[in-house]
Amino acid sequence: VDKYGFVEFQNVTFRYEGAEKPVLTNISFQAKPGETTAVIGSTGAGKSTLVKLIPRFYDVESGAVLIDGVDVRTMSQKALRNKIGYVPQKASLFSGTIAENIQYGKQTAGEDEILKALETAQAIDFVSEKEDGLQSNIDQGGANLSGGQKQRLAIARALVRKPEIYIFDDSFSALDYKTDARLRSALKQETGNSTIIIVAQRVNTVIHADQIIVLNEGTIAGVGTHRELLSENRIYQEIVSS
Ligand code: GTP
Repeated sequence: VDKYGFVEFQNVTFRYEGAEKPVLTNISFQAKPGETTAVIGSTGAGKSTLVKLIPRFYDVESGAVLIDGVDVRTMSQKALRNKIGYVPQKASLFSGTIAENIQYGKQTAGEDEILKALETAQAIDFVSEKEDGLQSNIDQGGANLSGGQKQRLAIARALVRKPEIYIFDDSFSALDYKTDARLRSALKQETGNSTIIIVAQRVNTVIHADQIIVLNEGTIAGVGTHRELLSENRIYQEIVSS
């Protein structure tokens, strides 16, 4: 079976326009199809910035970001959008029905697909409790939803597209531990050979990842499994015990 969505950072350095020093320095790692790669690190470490380089929201200063061996700078925005399901830190829901908000990910998604995505995203319960179900209205920005509900709808929106690469930027932070665990397990089941990249603040979210990248002040302080990092990585140990 061919697998697509192999992400590779080759010695990437990135600086925001006008900034004195780079936010990311010499970042190299690989995220493989069928695996979950988690990025953890303290606030301001550069986690969000790192994942934003994959859909090319910004261009690297040096080095390269590759998808299946192709430099993202040579790919069209459309191609990148088709390959990547990016769930931002703050879900951007709009005024409209729940169905419409999910279909924003894929216009042609039918009810079955929407329900399946909601199920995987652990959103089916609260949606079906609403009188109008999928046709319930969401206020602008999701003002009538909790933080965790908004996150789950944003995740469902990415799921209907069945992209090769999923990027979850802190998408589980507002979920309780149980929902977080259920969601990650359902994701693993449903996303098959996709590449999953998760930015997280808490250890619980990354513990089962195939690979954890520890980011510290814009550099990689360690890469490994939870067990490996726990036994040998000082910064990871600090995160675990904080
Ligand atoms: P948390 O989201 O707090 O966990 O942080 P993070 O690890 O995701 O870090 P992030 O990538 O958001 O930020 C890294 C550094 O880049 C911080 O010092 C930010 O202040 C800075 N930064 C983030 N976005 C921008 C931007 O749009 N412009 C500029 N100039 N700096 C930015």
